[in-house]
Amino acid sequence: MNKSDCLCRVCSSTISDIFDFGNMPIANNLMPVINDTYTKNEYKYNMKIGVCINCSSLQIVNVPEKELMFNNQYAYFASQSEFMKSHFEKLGNKVMQLMDKEKDYILEIGSNDGIFLKYFADKQYKHLGVDASENVVETAKKNGVNALCSFFDEETSIEINNKYGKAKIIVITNTMHHIENCQEVAKGINNILAEDGTLIIEDPYLLDMYKIGSIEQVYAEHNFIWSLHSYKTLFEKHSIKLFDVEHFDTHGGSMRYYFSKQNLNKTSTMQEYINLELNNKIFDINTFIKFQENCINISKELYNFVVSKSKEGKIIAGYGATAKSATTLNYSNIDKNLISCIYDSTPFKIGKYTPGTHIEIKDAKLFTKDSPDYTILFAWNHKKEIIEKEKNNKSKTIWVEYIPKLKLTYEN
Ligand code: TYD
Ligand code: ZN
Repeated sequence: MNKSDCLCRVCSSTISDIFDFGNMPIANNLMPVINDTYTKNEYKYNMKIGVCINCSSLQIVNVPEKELMFNNQYAYFASQSEFMKSHFEKLGNKVMQLMDKEKDYILEIGSNDGIFLKYFADKQYKHLGVDASENVVETAKKNGVNALCSFFDEETSIEINNKYGKAKIIVITNTMHHIENCQEVAKGINNILAEDGTLIIEDPYLLDMYKIGSIEQVYAEHNFIWSLHSYKTLFEKHSIKLFDVEHFDTHGGSMRYYFSKQNLNKTSTMQEYINLELNNKIFDINTFIKFQENCINISKELYNFVVSKSKEGKIIAGYGATAKSATTLNYSNIDKNLISCIYDSTPFKIGKYTPGTHIEIKDAKLFTKDSPDYTILFAWNHKKEIIEKEKNNKSKTIWVEYIPKLKLTYEN
């Protein structure tokens, strides 16, 4: 285990390098066409992750420029999943209870296509979404959401404060782990969160990632995988205190964190998870080493399976051109020579090619007709929704899952 030259972005301790993935593309940089020029110019960076055993955060050591990841070609549109829509609707209802409709407003950082704020817009609550990618901001605006295209930092927080005042609620779902300069965001939040306000953050949870071996939660956009301990360390520096958490199965296991500037009583759930993290030795480097070994085995198992079925002449496809799968596909050397195509319902993705591995993305509507022999479920976090939908479409494929281990499901 080498000590990295890099310092932890959360607590400034030296971090240990744990995993070198080699040259990786940016996970959401889908290729519009495959030809020599595009292939030669495809951006790659040496992706390495490190762990800070002082604050228990896992982070990418060398992050590409943020403008290379978040721009007018951002490929992730959150509203593709009906399940996620209902998940956010429930959060919306809960948050509305905390707001005075006349006086308060809600700020969402990373508002994407407006999947969450749309409920507030529909019910005429004051709201503002901030997102760095122009194309998703445009979609949010078309959905009636008041949205601003910007990276959220201290300067943006001052501008927002001047125009809208302090926010009663700040929500950040599946975004905080994208942001390299977490100190800047925490400063901005400190500027703009009302004294009696609540900050709610939700993203993939470190302990779940260790448990299921989902290394693919890490890619250039997912700069961090957070834990209770690492979030506490970050926000306490900025006088914002964690007081409650809620766990969800979304995205392979996510945690929702509740923070306040006030000294609120800590809930028993929060204390349980603090203890769980300690009992699961998140500060012990050996926990990370075991996780790394598990991930390498998962990747080898998937590669061997694909190669053996390909030799038998079987058609192997994928389902869900997820950003996550870019890590698995590139790290495992599974490319267009082994996978016929990946089916996906996102209009922006259809007709493009996966980064690094150049697999064609086809409209999910063609899935039943094409009927591949095996289909790797890259969108494993939407398993129930996708398998049920395709079962109704009378799909005859054999589903292949690879996390936490290789599993085949015969539907017929
Ligand atoms: P997602 O899980 O949001 O992950 P990531 O952040 O890793 O990109 O991606 C899910 C992908 O699966 C997305 O491209 C949309 C696609 N999808 C379908 O094609 N059909 C479906 O029914 C669902 C739920 C998702
Ligand atoms: Zn640290």
